[in-house]
Amino acid sequence: MKIVKTIDEVRRQVKEWKSQGLSVGLVPTMGYLHEGHASLIDASHRDNDRTVVSDFVNPMQFGPTEDLESYPRDIERDAALVEEHGGDIIFNPEPSEMYHEGFSSFVDMDVLTKELCGLSRPVHFRGVCTVVSKLFNIVQPDRAYFGKKDAQQLAVIRHMVDDLNMDIEIIGCPIVREEDGLAKSSRNTYLNAEERKAALVLSQAINIGIGMVRNGENDCAAITDAMKRHISAEPLAKIDYVKIVDLATMQQIPVIDRPALCAIAVYIGSTRLIDNFFTEDI
Ligand code: PAJ
Repeated sequence: MKIVKTIDEVRRQVKEWKSQGLSVGLVPTMGYLHEGHASLIDASHRDNDRTVVSDFVNPMQFGPTEDLESYPRDIERDAALVEEHGGDIIFNPEPSEMYHEGFSSFVDMDVLTKELCGLSRPVHFRGVCTVVSKLFNIVQPDRAYFGKKDAQQLAVIRHMVDDLNMDIEIIGCPIVREEDGLAKSSRNTYLNAEERKAALVLSQAINIGIGMVRNGENDCAAITDAMKRHISAEPLAKIDYVKIVDLATMQQIPVIDRPALCAIAVYIGSTRLIDNFFTEDI
């Protein structure tokens, strides 16, 4: 397992693999890897001959008041995890390697990015689409792996690949959770002990929603109201959104009558956490 810092070196390695007829999977990450990331690396290792894990805290997808500076980083620990899960390369470029002086081309998207997280994070998806396009161009993988934890991101990437005719298969992987239900996230490290307990309202609310859908409830307001009530009872929690949207468009729907996504974003103290369920997974 190698840590690679330059675009040239990744390209050279992938070309060599491809000349040997080997398939290549890409797992894009921002590092500080946990078992959620590991599950994507496992999936890539299972499906492909070689796996590249990118480990890059992408400045372009953070808003001016967001946590770019404090975002946790630990490349040595990440390298050990990637090796353990069968990854072949970690691509860990400096920001100047990805964004040279005068960089001025962007990949942006309408509609899908204007809802949910796009509302409270207006520059976020332009940064994600741009960096993921760059990673796709650099690595040219056969398959790329994304977690359902970031459900809107997965939908946006699928849409981008379709719109721009990128010849890459996008694989969505299930949410990995802590034993008590909290979805694993690099940002969970921001929570103190009291906040960590309070953060359980997210997965509890998700379970309330899943339970109602299982029992045949399809009125979105009834479901989201019950979820909101549960979250609001926790004093450390502040709701950003609790919504049920059409999976294809990310637009809110009144009734679950098509494949839908129930997505929530909640501040626990100053940490913004997300969780969700796909109705098709119930
Ligand atoms: P990051 O937050 O590091 O996540 C990298 C990938 O891991 C994403 O596809 C995310 O959905 C997945 N992931 C995170 N937590 C997970 C969990 N608990 N279960 C399953 N999968 C999980 O998402 C990004 O980085 C960036 O936006 C990126 C796509 C790398 C572009 O910069």
